[in-house]
Amino acid sequence: TVKICGMIIIAYLLGSIPSGLWIGRIFYHKDIRQLGSGNIGTTNTFRTLGPKAGTVVLFMDVLKGTLAASQPYLLGVSHSVNPLLIGLFASLGHTVSIFDHFHGGKAVATSAGILLAYNPPLFGIACLIFIGTLLLTSMASVASIIGITSIFIIALCERDLILSLVAGILTVLVLYRHKGNIKRIITGKEAMVHFGLGHYL
Ligand code: G3P
Repeated sequence: TVKICGMIIIAYLLGSIPSGLWIGRIFYHKDIRQLGSGNIGTTNTFRTLGPKAGTVVLFMDVLKGTLAASQPYLLGVSHSVNPLLIGLFASLGHTVSIFDHFHGGKAVATSAGILLAYNPPLFGIACLIFIGTLLLTSMASVASIIGITSIFIIALCERDLILSLVAGILTVLVLYRHKGNIKRIITGKEAMVHFGLGHYL
């Protein structure tokens, strides 16, 4: 139990690291929460601080989830403690961050990182779904929503109980955090990413 609590706390603290916010502050002297969509995630970092910062934030946010979910493997207890259940706390930390007054991001990259630790091929599939949807729609929010929902559906089809549970919780969380995006998608006001077929169709 002590080990489990320790892993949960570490997962939460790792997830809480607001990479977009800190990178913006330290290297660009900008508060990303005041710019673009106001989100601290990869998309808004790309949008407001550029590709270099966006790539670093993407890498860091994915890594937070991967490290958090890798703990049971590293401690040799992955047979009794499911890595997904520990990783889940990293996604919660990312959205309800102790370092950002219990605010935070939309849980997409960190959730992908959890999947990378648990099932790398499925992570690859999730990336392909995300990239495909992004190329078709030019909206990162749509790609995120379709990506996480697809993983939930795949988990159900595969009858992976814990993955279904965790992906289900994360799908609800991601949808909830994208409330504003969903409203903008419906009203045709959602911001487009400046590449992809959407611009040429
Ligand atoms: O990962 C977040 C993305 O789905 C949407 O970000 O900044 O467009 O709200 P943003």
